[in-house]
Amino acid sequence: MKRKILITGASKGIGRAEAERLSADYELFLHASSMSSFKKDIKGAHYFGYDFSKTDEVNKFVEEFKKETDTLDVLVNNVGIMILENFADFKDEDIDKLITLNLHSHLLLTKKLIPVLEKSENPHIVFMSSMSAKNQIEGESVYAATKAGIMQFAHVLRNELAGKIRVSTIHSWGVNTWGDPEGSPILVPENVAEVLEFIISRERPFVIESVDLSHEKQWKGTTAPWTPVK
Ligand SMILES: NC(=O)c1ccc[n+]([C@@H]2O[C@H](COP(=O)([O-])OP(=O)(O)OC[C@H]3O[C@@H](n4cnc5c(N)ncnc54)[C@H](OP(=O)(O)O)[C@@H]3O)[C@@H](O)[C@H]2O)c1
Repeated sequence: MKRKILITGASKGIGRAEAERLSADYELFLHASSMSSFKKDIKGAHYFGYDFSKTDEVNKFVEEFKKETDTLDVLVNNVGIMILENFADFKDEDIDKLITLNLHSHLLLTKKLIPVLEKSENPHIVFMSSMSAKNQIEGESVYAATKAGIMQFAHVLRNELAGKIRVSTIHSWGVNTWGDPEGSPILVPENVAEVLEFIISRERPFVIESVDLSHEKQWKGTTAPWTPVK
């Protein structure tokens, strides 16, 4: 029987590449903000549309998810957005949205699905953080706070769940999900998908706690080409 994997934010970008890469070997449960976000071209996948910037929708998603399956082997907390702004100019609603979607929804979903994961013989939780958690790029203050929050949350959760559920975190520099020309010095979603597959296919008790991903010619600094003008 195929192992079951849930990937949040799987309609495009990194989540979509992960779904494509794992589709042959896993039963896929794919989430995005709305059913209309999906092309629904991956045969046999289960699709879910819930806006995770609203806490209530995470709860509704979990209810529907549990109607479709009472077991889960791998949870990939991938959903997330980036909003760039100098902090003094940040809109209150954008601070709320980033924290709710990028941080709070991951914690809530993970908490609700731990009992389901515990029924698996080899459960794994993977968080999609970012190198922004470790850098100091102007314009990314709130995004960086959410990603650093995920990073640290995962470290503690790994210890709490040791021997039961393995916990891993992926930190990445830029991944071309916005249509840079081919050959640009930036990772592509398929790179992250390859790493995810490697992480979740290691045999217990080996656990890859955390990985940092970069293109060898990746731009690095504290003001990025995308940093807002002050
Ligand atoms: N791209 C990068 O450079 C990079 C680098 C490091 C880390 N990351 C992280 O990797 C993850 C994926 O990023 P990505 O670049 O692949 O993003 P993306 O291409 O913009 O895709 C985002 C995914 O999240 C879903 N989503 C967005 N808002 C949502 C909401 N309110 N409720 C439910 N689903 C929502 C989208 O669904 P819809 O189609 O329905 O909107 C989509 O499936 C994020 O956590 C991001 O922070 C990205």
